Parts: sequence; structure tokens; C-alpha cells
Amino acid sequence: MSKKQTWCSVRATKRQAPSGRAHTRLADIELRQFKNSIFQVVTPDGPRVFLPRKYAHDLKKYTRHEASGMKALADVSFPPAHVVRQQVDRSQRHIGNYTTIDHESDIMLGAIKIDLNRNLGTFVGDVEQEVAHCFQTQFPSCNEWTPIDLHDKLLRVVAQASARIFVGYPMCRNEEWLDCSTSFAMDAMNGGEKLKQWHPYLRPVAQWFVPEMRRIRGDHRHALALFLPELERRAAKAGDSDVVPQNDMIEWMIERARNTGDKSFDSKELANLQVLTATAAIHTTRLAIIHTLYDLAARPEYVQPLREEILEVTRDSNGILQKQHLTQMKKLDSFMKETQRHSPPSVATFQRKAMIPIDLSDGSHFPAGTILQCNTNMLEEAPAVWGDPYAFDGFRFYKLRSKPEDANKFQFASPSYDSMQFGFGNDACPGRFFASNQIKIILAYILTHYDIKFEEGVVGRPKNFMFEVNVLADPTKMVLFKKIG
Ligand code: HEM
Repeated sequence: MSKKQTWCSVRATKRQAPSGRAHTRLADIELRQFKNSIFQVVTPDGPRVFLPRKYAHDLKKYTRHEASGMKALADVSFPPAHVVRQQVDRSQRHIGNYTTIDHESDIMLGAIKIDLNRNLGTFVGDVEQEVAHCFQTQFPSCNEWTPIDLHDKLLRVVAQASARIFVGYPMCRNEEWLDCSTSFAMDAMNGGEKLKQWHPYLRPVAQWFVPEMRRIRGDHRHALALFLPELERRAAKAGDSDVVPQNDMIEWMIERARNTGDKSFDSKELANLQVLTATAAIHTTRLAIIHTLYDLAARPEYVQPLREEILEVTRDSNGILQKQHLTQMKKLDSFMKETQRHSPPSVATFQRKAMIPIDLSDGSHFPAGTILQCNTNMLEEAPAVWGDPYAFDGFRFYKLRSKPEDANKFQFASPSYDSMQFGFGNDACPGRFFASNQIKIILAYILTHYDIKFEEGVVGRPKNFMFEVNVLADPTKMVLFKKIG
């Protein structure tokens, strides 16, 4: 690793997470002190290099095979020689080879990036229907102020609404599938953490003693068992000219495999890809909605203008959502983006493992194996025209879009150098347009059916907490819901 710049190496501290699990808290490191320099954090998962945001321009030119996002998440880093042996042994993040998340697929990526995005407009009504069904069947009546565990309830809403497009109707209401598709992520994360406590030489055996690791295998087997009858049902109807073929991600994946002649694609692979797609989609979207509702409950002055906007744009269709309505909800879009600016999914994006040596424009050189990421959550680095960078201004982006030449900029789903929460460049999150729609549909439902506020004793917006570089909403705070009218 060449040291053209002054390097700082800091050790992240280990804390006890609310769940009881030890975790590394990067907030304990004075990030601001190093924000304009390249520094390395020695974490329990191995060393990780943090780059100032400007280097995203340099990383952008490396392909996904040269600088891999998946390997940065799942894989081992190769620490420099001065890092103690113990770290070398433990330097794996989510040990993807055991947790099965280390699985990249052109079929899955194409189905999200191309097919899902192409079909977005056609699904607004379906998703709205699923969201309404979920609130009607899963939520208490809320005739009086009722505490709602958002982390729990929204998991179900997002899972079912996403499943409507990923696996179609009726499978999107199959309790076993919803359970399987939501629990896999927790099993992979918790199982990975537990298995990491074992020496690498012992892990092939130790995996059988970690309950979550056994469940991961069970999740995959269970997913296949649920998909087989669904595929048979579809096959039985295939020849029937009276039956409209389903339009969902199951079909897109099968079609892609057929067109590319991918011989490795079978029912088992389809079930695995569906589990992985649900994992990428559900937890990120749920968290974004929770953060937004926390900001709304803490700032009730925004509720009425947002509600009015929703009612106004849907007036022509008696309140039934259509695809153009989502684009017209500019205040809601702005509020969601401002929430994401203050509560991003992570303080570092563009996480990459160098699969080949990486050279930055200033001459810094990183050998293959280094794990790099860009430091992206610097509120004060917002462009001056955005106004006070620290203030929460829910309509900040709405106002910025009022200039005709900027009408299509600053949208929630538009990544830019100043908004990297979905990543940046060609490999930015392919599901962001879908996520934007889902979040709007769910928030529009909540805003037009309920009043919300925090439980007694919560003053202001509850502080987020960190797990590694991830920003999480405080799960101990309850939001109360009350039906309108
Ligand atoms: C608010 C919700 C979401 C957030 C904040 C989010 C954020 C991100 C981020 C930061 C990345 C990494 C980008 C990079 O490395 O440059 C990513 C990747 C990814 N996201 Fe999302 N995401 C969200 C929703 C979704 C949804 C709904 C889907 C699926 C429909 C999805 C599928 C993926 C996939 C497959 C990748 C990996 C892409 C690749 O390997 O190139 N995400 N997401």
C-alpha cells in the first residue's frame, strides 16, 4: 500500500448492541477529524480503508469485477502484514461463502435493473391493493391512539407489497413464504456473526452447531419447497389461451435464463435468487420508511401539507393511485430525500473489494484484496445552494426543484455526487425506483388513513444508532397510530 498521503490507522471500539450482540461502532471514531484524509479502520472484521467522497469519481471507472460490491459485503479482506495474525483470521464480514449471500447473478440483476424498472408503472395498483390488505389484516383497528411496533409491522407490509411483484399473487400472501423471505436476512447476519467467533479452520464443522447457520440451509430448502407447487401451477396453465400469463419476477427470471441459455438455472436457483432479492429489498425499504415516519412524528407540521398533496394529485381518480401520481408527489419525495440525507442507510457507500490493484488519481495505490469505501455522510458538505446543511428542511428539495431547469433533479431515486445514499454511478442500487414507489405508496396510505405521534415521553426525533457503518432507527420508541375520521 503506497503512502503518498499521510495515513491514519484507527481501531474501532467494540460495544454492546441493544440486542446484546457486540458490535463495532464507527461513530466512536472521530470521523470528522479524518474526513479529508484517507484512513484505515482496523475492525474486528479486518482493516477497511475509508476514502473522502471525491474518490468515488476514481472508483466509478472500475468494473464490478475489478472492484466488487458483493465481495466487500460478504468476503475476506487481505490485511497488510503489520496487522496482527488474529485479525487475519477473523477478517471476514458476513462470511458469504457460509451465509450463502456471496452469490452474484446476471439473471437477478437483469430482472431488477431492466424488467422491474420497465414494469414499474403497471404495478402501482397491485402494490396499493397489497398495502391496503396488509393494513386491514395485520394492523389493530386504531380507533384510539394505538402503539405500533413499526419495525415489526412494516416488515410485513414491505415484504407482502414487494412479494406481489417478485412472486405474484397468490404466493405474495403465503405466510410461510413471507416468513422465509424476511427471516433469511436476520439468520444470515446473526449466523455470520456467531460463526465468525470460531477459528476459520473450525468453521466447516462449527457451522453445524450455530442454529442460524442451520436455519439458512432450512430457509433455502423451504423456499424451494414453496416454489415447486407454484411453478407447477403455472406450468399447468401455460397452454391455456384463456389465462393471462403472470407478469412478475418469477417469469422474468425464467425468461432471462431461457434467453441466455443458462443451464445452471433451475427451480432451486430461482428460489435462491428470490430469497436474495427479497433480502436486498425488504430491510432497506422498511428502514427508510421507519426513518421517514420518525421524522414525521417528530415534526407534525409536515403532516397536513403532505396529506393535502396526496389528496390533490389523486383527486382525478377518486383517491386511487396511478403511476403519474407518484411522480407528482414532489413534497413527499422531497421529505423522503431529506430524511435519507439525515438518516442514510450507511455513513459509507461505494463499498468495494479491490479484485485488482486500484490506483486513485492522486497516486494512492491499493493492492488487490483491500476493502475500500467512501465516506459519504458529511452533512456540512452539502452544496451551498441547498441552504443550511444541518437543518431538517422537509421541503428543501421541493424548493430546489421549483426552477424549471431543475424540475427533474434532486429526486429521491436520483443518486448524484451529493446524494450517494443509493450508491453512485453505474452500479448504484438497481432497486431504487421500485423502493421509491413502494415507500410513497405505503406513506400515502398511512397519511390518508391515520394520524401519528410518538408515545408519551419521546421528546424530539429519537437519535439513530450505529451498527458498524449502518445507521439504524431506535427500535425502543413506539409511534402511535389513530384512524382518521
Ligand atoms: C430505500 C431502499 C434501498 C436502499 C437505501 C438501498 C441501498 C443500496 C445501496 C447503497 C446499494 C449499494 C450500491 C453500491 O454499491 O454502489 C444497493 C445495492 C443493491 N440493491 Fe438496493 N437499496 C434499497 C432498495 C432496494 C430494492 C427495493 C431492491 C430490489 C428490488 C434492491 C436491490 C439491490 C441490489 C440487487 C443491489 C446490488 C447491486 C449490484 O450488485 O450491482 N435495493 N442498494
